[in-house]
Amino acid sequence: MPDIESLLKEKRIFKPDSQFTRKANWNKKVAAEYRKLGEKNPQLFWAKMAKEHVSWFTPWKKVLDWKPPYAKWFVGAKTNVSYNCLDRHLEGDDAWRRNKAAIIWEGEPGDSRVITYAELHREVCRFANVLKARGVKKGDRVVLYMPMIPEAAVAMLACTRIGAPHSIVFGGFSAEALRDRVVDAGAKLVVTSDGGFRKGEPFALKRQVDAAVDGVAAVECVVVVRRTGQDVEMRSGRDCWWHEEMATASTKCPPAKLDAEHPLFILYTSGTTGKPKGVLHTTGGYLTHITTTCKAIFDLQETDVYWCTADVGWITGHSYVVYGPLACGATAFMYEGVPTHPGPDRWWQLIAKWGVTILYTAPTAIRTFIRLGDEHPRRHDLSSLRLLGSVGEPINPEAWMWYHRVIGRKRCPIVDTWWQTETGGIMITPLPSSVPTKPGSATLPFPGIQAAILSEEGEEVEPPNGGLLAITHPWPGMLRGIWGDEQRYRDTYWSKWTNTYFPGDGAHRDKQGYFWIMGRVDDVMNISGHRIGTMEVESALVSHNSVAEAAVVGRPDEITGTAIVAFVTPTGDTESSDALTSVLKTHVTAEIGAIARPAEIRFTNSLPKTRSGKIMRRLLRNIASGDELAGDTSTLEDFSVLASLRESDEG
Ligand code: PRX
Repeated sequence: MPDIESLLKEKRIFKPDSQFTRKANWNKKVAAEYRKLGEKNPQLFWAKMAKEHVSWFTPWKKVLDWKPPYAKWFVGAKTNVSYNCLDRHLEGDDAWRRNKAAIIWEGEPGDSRVITYAELHREVCRFANVLKARGVKKGDRVVLYMPMIPEAAVAMLACTRIGAPHSIVFGGFSAEALRDRVVDAGAKLVVTSDGGFRKGEPFALKRQVDAAVDGVAAVECVVVVRRTGQDVEMRSGRDCWWHEEMATASTKCPPAKLDAEHPLFILYTSGTTGKPKGVLHTTGGYLTHITTTCKAIFDLQETDVYWCTADVGWITGHSYVVYGPLACGATAFMYEGVPTHPGPDRWWQLIAKWGVTILYTAPTAIRTFIRLGDEHPRRHDLSSLRLLGSVGEPINPEAWMWYHRVIGRKRCPIVDTWWQTETGGIMITPLPSSVPTKPGSATLPFPGIQAAILSEEGEEVEPPNGGLLAITHPWPGMLRGIWGDEQRYRDTYWSKWTNTYFPGDGAHRDKQGYFWIMGRVDDVMNISGHRIGTMEVESALVSHNSVAEAAVVGRPDEITGTAIVAFVTPTGDTESSDALTSVLKTHVTAEIGAIARPAEIRFTNSLPKTRSGKIMRRLLRNIASGDELAGDTSTLEDFSVLASLRESDEG
């Protein structure tokens, strides 16, 4: 494995800064104690964290009920996420936080809002009452399809207040993709906006919702936030304006006392089949996991201005834009637009303007900034920053070093955090106070998390050999299932080994026990830190009437990590052409969203297959990345196919 070799050459190591460590929430001693406790007794560790970081209406009877592959955490306990994110910061000893900024928001055009905890509480109560008035009850699903505006956080928290699980669909997904998710979740109500701003232009969301929910009887109501002022069609009896509903809603709404295992949200993510999986998360364990990791990894403190750049449509937006920081009583910064509008220094300008202290972003963004040039961050005062984070894909050591040097100005610890939609919260990560970092390594499992590198057969792989990443003990933020598909939950995550979670990533450990994540081992691509299944893109392609067959693979890309390459066999009388290429790219965008748009489409008369008819993706991957053909090709059904592909490649 050449990747492993190159990473093994990484000798640089950065020790925690003693000044940082002294002031950290978890100093060296505390971190060492918790690590020991987490290894010896994960349940005791998590119970301690649950007491420290979460407020409960009723205590639990049992910390963990583990009937593989089903876990229940904090059995019998009752709590509420919005209570933890809001009410408790307004009461008793913490009442001073009433007027602290909960959310600082800036829109792409430069408009901004600062929302205090007391104000956010009122807004959330109001919207919870709107939901109730529109017939949403505990257990009913609400889909959110929104830009990065404060109303997205308000809607999320309002759902949690009344126990209605939300399912957020990223605003970049198409109407088709939205429809699939709305139908699968059985949503009763959809919250959206007329649109949002991107690259200086308004884009439409409500119009997509209209197409998505047309004929979907379960959807009784669509609530629309006015953000851009663009024209929208409001269907009478179904659609209503957010501001009109809110104007008359009461600011009082007691939080529902929910079981620790009450469904909190469903979030769809790509898998190896064409159909996205509705990953289900519940209440008490999830809250424990994300608050503990916020305190320990981001070292969230009262005076921080914390900025996680993820969109609320992804898991990072759920756990580390909204729920984690607010439950910790922190100030979260939110930005609506793209990083490079109106200029390549927008982010750095925002950091200087708002005094951002913690920045948590993705390697794809870092690589974009590297390409744009050091002069843009250099022009701004970034001295408020004290900690940097990375998530979503492996960060290449050179991007890590740039982040350290140019953004962190060699002062800020970097936490490279490995986790997934399914894990709910961070799993493998440095602790900034106590774990020396190596560029490119996510370092060690978080205390209370037990990870290993296993072979296909479940044998532990000796360092420094590569193998499959495995989580060997249940953890509080883990997914509780796939919405409506129990079998898929068992098959995807729990069938490779016995009672051990399979995340689908390859990894290896070095001699110090540090984990180095190598990327996906299944047919899932990681594009700009977001998962797209090859099958999803293939299904979208073959749904076009000029495509007979399609195979999709990823090839390494300097900016996005992976770029999508599609091999397409056109139907009988269709001519391959540049025009067809652009038609198909647009078609995939319409079916799934711009994130799945192939970077390249190659036409072929037929695809290389094994005798049993399986497409040989390994070969296609090699061809797509311009590598020499590797490995055994004797199982190819049609050698001429391979030859013609190579020819077209060389031509
Ligand atoms: O392959 C791993 C990669 O992203 C996948 C999870 O994607 P998603 O569910 O969309 O969640 C992304 C945000 C948590 C993982 O299976 N990944 C995530 N973080 C890292 C990573 N790969 C390497 N290093 C990371 N820090």
